Amino acid sequence: MIRVTRRYRFSASHRLHAPQLSDTENRELYGKCNNPFGHGHNYEVEVTVRGPVDARSGRAADIGRLDQLVEQQVVAAFDHRNLNAEVAAFRDLVPTSENLGVEVCRRLKQSWQAAFPNEWPRLEKIRIAETGRNIFEVSQHEIE
Ligand code: NI
Repeated sequence: MIRVTRRYRFSASHRLHAPQLSDTENRELYGKCNNPFGHGHNYEVEVTVRGPVDARSGRAADIGRLDQLVEQQVVAAFDHRNLNAEVAAFRDLVPTSENLGVEVCRRLKQSWQAAFPNEWPRLEKIRIAETGRNIFEVSQHEIE
């Protein structure tokens, strides 16, 4: 079994603001990330898939097909967007990297079967980095 990880990038802006909390609570909780005008990040997403080495191609995953799926489901959906205003999932959910990672993983899991109808490769996990120092990992097994 081989695990293959492919890296993607997108840029997006957000504001950390939990609608169920007061303005004061939001300021205390999120500090400058609660700035009403938002701020941007250059996100890096790593998508890990696993499968056996295919006897014919010698590969464990068709990277071109993976690129197509991730471009459609993640990069096109988030790149140069305001996550709070333009992504339905974050209308009532604060777009932290934790929640963004779950949303990325959910989108890939939901569209996986259509893109990869055979048994392999399977989606394993995604990692998302908002900055070089914070990396968030979501396993597809932990997503509904
Ligand atoms: Ni931020």
